[in-house]
Order: sequence, then structure tokens, then C-alpha cells
Amino acid sequence: MTAFTLSVNGKTHEIDTDPAKPLVYVLRGELGLTGPKIGCALEQCAACAVLVDGEHTLSCNRAASEFEGKQITTIEGLSEDALGAQIQTAFMEENAAQCGYCTPGIVIAVASLLKTNASPDRGQITEALGEHLCRCGSHNRVLRAITSVIEGGANNG
Ligand code: FES
Ligand code: FES
Repeated sequence: MTAFTLSVNGKTHEIDTDPAKPLVYVLRGELGLTGPKIGCALEQCAACAVLVDGEHTLSCNRAASEFEGKQITTIEGLSEDALGAQIQTAFMEENAAQCGYCTPGIVIAVASLLKTNASPDRGQITEALGEHLCRCGSHNRVLRAITSVIEGGANNG
């Protein structure tokens, strides 16, 4: 095994595990960050989404060691960010989750979108969420939560 370093939610971690292990397993198993979920593990559901240098990134199928030197943000770290907290509050107020398994990934996608575009139109929102599967059918509530953030003024710094 080769040790490598990951920067996650503003903290640096020495990771001593198989460097080929996909990032989401390291986040969950080595660092105890269970916000990113494992759904398909085939880059087909987006439950595992995190931000990498601010970009929406799937974490289930790429080696954790590939992310050395990058800034990784999980849903746990996003709650310390003004926009992230605003989105999470809107999701709670709109009850925009049922089982909640897809929700961390969706919140990551919304944060990624609103950080670069504080007032996206419906098509842009749909495109940003296009790869996020929700088996519970919470889509309408998710859209209501996003609309409420946009109408309230997305705090994207
Ligand atoms: S778990 Fe990563 S895309 Fe499904
Ligand atoms: S709320 Fe259950 S999968 Fe989306």
C-alpha cells in the first residue's frame, strides 16, 4: 500500500490504503464521511457526487489517489458554506427528500450550478440534475427547493 494525501473539507489527511480504491470508499470508510452515497458504483446514478476544486465530480469509479492535490468538498463540508447551508435549508423546508439517499448528490449538483449561475432557468437546472437518479420521485419538491433558493437570492459569494 502507498500512502497518499487528500484534502477534504479543508483538512489534509494522510491515507494509507490501496491507492486504486475509488474515492467514495475512502471518504466513507477511511474518513467517516458517509454523506456521499454508493448507489450504482458505475457512474450512472450520481449518488456519490462531491465537489473537486468546485466542480461536480462522481467519486465511485476513480481512484482516490487521482485526487491528491485537489480540494474535495463533500456534503458535510458544504454545510459550512453560505450557499451550501442555504440549499440544505431550502431542501428541509420543502421536504425535498423521501429516503434521502440521492439527496447529498443532488445538493452537491445544485451548489455546483448556483455557484456559477445564481439564476439558472429550468432547462439549466434540469441539465445540471440530469444524471441524478431519485427512486422516490422527489423531483418536484427538489425543483421547488431550488426555485426558493433562486428567488431568495442565491448566496454564492
Ligand atoms: S454511485 Fe457513483 S454514480 Fe452511482
Ligand atoms: S429521495 Fe429516495 S432516492 Fe431520492
